[in-house]
Amino acid sequence: MSDACKLAAGNWKMNGLRADLDEARALAEAFPKPGCGVLLCPPATLICAMADVLEGSAVMVGGQDCHVRESGAHTGDVSAQMLADAGARQVILGHSERRSDHGESSALVAAKAQAAHAAGLVAIICIGETEAERDAGQTLNVVLAQLADSLPEGTTAANTVVAYEPVWAIGTGRTPTLGQITEVHDALRAALRDKAISLLYGGSVKPGNASEIFGIENVDGALVGGASLKAQDFGAIIAALEQA
Ligand code: PGA
Repeated sequence: MSDACKLAAGNWKMNGLRADLDEARALAEAFPKPGCGVLLCPPATLICAMADVLEGSAVMVGGQDCHVRESGAHTGDVSAQMLADAGARQVILGHSERRSDHGESSALVAAKAQAAHAAGLVAIICIGETEAERDAGQTLNVVLAQLADSLPEGTTAANTVVAYEPVWAIGTGRTPTLGQITEVHDALRAALRDKAISLLYGGSVKPGNASEIFGIENVDGALVGGASLKAQDFGAIIAALEQA
C-alpha cells in the first residue's frame, strides 16, 4: 500500500432500479466511518436518489461517464456539471466498455476528464490491455500509452484516480497473477508525475481475492463491478481495504 488515498469504488454499470437503493443504504449503515474512501457509481437514473439516500453518510456517489460539453444538443448524454448537480463527486471515464461499445479514444477520455475537473469532479480514468495485447507482450506499452493520452493537463492527486483494468479480467472471474498486477502498477506509479495519485486495480475483484490484491504495494484500492451490487460482498471488499 502506498501513501495515496485508499478507495473502494463500485461500478454498477447498467444495473440497478430504485429498489436497489437499499444496498446503498445498507452499505452506509455498515460503514459509518470507513477507513478508506467508499464510492458507488450507479446508472445515471439513480444518481439523484442515491445521493439523497447517502446524504450525511461517508459513502460517495459517482457517475459512469460524462460528455465533454457542459450542455447543448447532445441527445442522451449527461454533462459533468449535471452529474455534480445531481450529487456526484466522482466520475468513471474511459471504462473499457465505453472504449469498445462507443469507440472512445484516449484523446476523448482526456477531454472528458478535463470537463469533469472543470465541474469539480474527481475523474477515475480506466486503462487496460486486451488479452491479445497481453499475449503479444504489449501490456506495458499499451497501458502506458493509454495513461499518457488519457490524462489531461492539470491532472493531480486531488482530481484524478487511475484504474488499471485488464479487459480480459472484467466480468470473467479471471484475474492476473499478483506478479502481473505488481508489474503494471509499479510501471504506472513510475510514469505518473504526481506520485500521490491513487491507483486502483479492477477486474473480477471479489471478497475472496481482495486482501491479496490490496497487499500489493502500488495498489491503493479497487474498481469493482459485479461484486459491488450487493452491500454484503462490497462490504467485505471494503473491510479488506481498510485492513490493508
Ligand atoms: P468486474 O468489473 O468486477 O465485474 O469484473 C470491473 C469493472 O468493469 O469495473
